[in-house]
Amino acid sequence: MTVPQRAPGGFPVVGIVGAGQLARMCAGPAAELGLTLSVLAEASDASAALVIPSAPVGAHSDVEAVLAFARECDVVTFDHEQVPADVLAALAQAGVAMHPTPEALVFAQDKLAMRKRLTALAIPCPRWVSARTPADVDAFGEDVGWPVVAKTPRGGYDGKGVRVVGSSAELADWLKRAAAEDSPLLLEEKVPFTRELAVLLARSPSGQAAAWPVVETVQTDSICTEVIAPAADLDPDLAARVTEAGLRIAGELGVTGVLAVELFELPGGEFVVNELAMRPHNSGHWSMDGAVTGQFEQHLRAVLDLPLGSPRPRHRWTVMGNILGGEHHDLFPAYRHVMARDPEIKAHLYGKGVRPGRKIGHVNVSGEDLADLRERARHAADYIEGVILE
Ligand SMILES: Nc1ncnc2c1ncn2[C@@H]1O[C@H](COP(=O)(O)OP(=O)(O)OP(=O)(O)O)[C@@H](O)[C@H]1O
Ligand SMILES: [Mg+2]
Repeated sequence: MTVPQRAPGGFPVVGIVGAGQLARMCAGPAAELGLTLSVLAEASDASAALVIPSAPVGAHSDVEAVLAFARECDVVTFDHEQVPADVLAALAQAGVAMHPTPEALVFAQDKLAMRKRLTALAIPCPRWVSARTPADVDAFGEDVGWPVVAKTPRGGYDGKGVRVVGSSAELADWLKRAAAEDSPLLLEEKVPFTRELAVLLARSPSGQAAAWPVVETVQTDSICTEVIAPAADLDPDLAARVTEAGLRIAGELGVTGVLAVELFELPGGEFVVNELAMRPHNSGHWSMDGAVTGQFEQHLRAVLDLPLGSPRPRHRWTVMGNILGGEHHDLFPAYRHVMARDPEIKAHLYGKGVRPGRKIGHVNVSGEDLADLRERARHAADYIEGVILE
């Protein structure tokens, strides 16, 4: 195991399990703050491993590898939700400081555990049940109306692990697997939302919390493609209630680090919570350029129990456009056109190989005219993706 090179001056080493783009985007703020990062990388060419010198390769499911990695770090945090419970327990047993803690993290790892806990806290959720059999599915569908949304409680991302079904027959394969693995599925009513929102906040171990403004997230084929910060024409009362719910969830669950709460806005000024993530999140990428403190810096401050930075927006609007992999593999030449056309665009590319639909980067642009910003963000993202040529 390579040992991270400590900086002089008493600065700590922050370890991140997983070397995806979220770990990578911590590198800029860490460098500015004089912190050392170390990432446990899934491969030597993983996104964060390309920019962080200490990037030992090891699997997040390998107890020995994760323990050896964690021993060299002052605090450990996570790039994703996939670290298994037994590995987290071994780290806790070894006295590793982890943020979020395993007790909190389970509510981002397991959507059934999350639904149970939020329901117990009287946080608004879609109607839901856990289902093991076709009869469970049919009974729920008859109750709330078809179609219903089925989810695998663990391991989903970008809509993988989410399926809209009109009958239990359409779920036969998942039910069979759930029975074989003795793990029920989560069923939810299909929420007739008007739009998707997210509230992002950070909470430190001392209990300080800071929330960014509520944003709108736009998904295309279940993948987030655009974020508008703050959400346009959002009723201030709803914004306050959503933020309050986020802060309450963070406090009750003991979340440390960044927490993202994905929500559905309902007609009539109500909302329900979709899901939680306990790490920097796609809905917060706008903050890198649009807020006084970006989410990656804030996550580092929170996991080190430093005072949090101001989440105040620097501009009236910031629009984030995700860049998804397409047919086009040669990305760098696009910069010449994008940067010349719009000097205010901020591009963030992740050093990831292009695969169709894979998140490979994003752009941010801030200003006063929301329609214009949306057009410019989309144009830049599309041009880098290669779907438009001028
Ligand atoms: N109960 C529901 N009713 C209506 N639409 C839903 C429901 N649950 C999920 N969706 C839609 O599916 C998308 C993906 O769902 P969810 O966020 O639970 O999955 P995920 O794969 O964990 O997502 P992520 O990409 O955020 O990790 C949501 O953003 C929303 O558009
Ligand atoms: Mg989601």
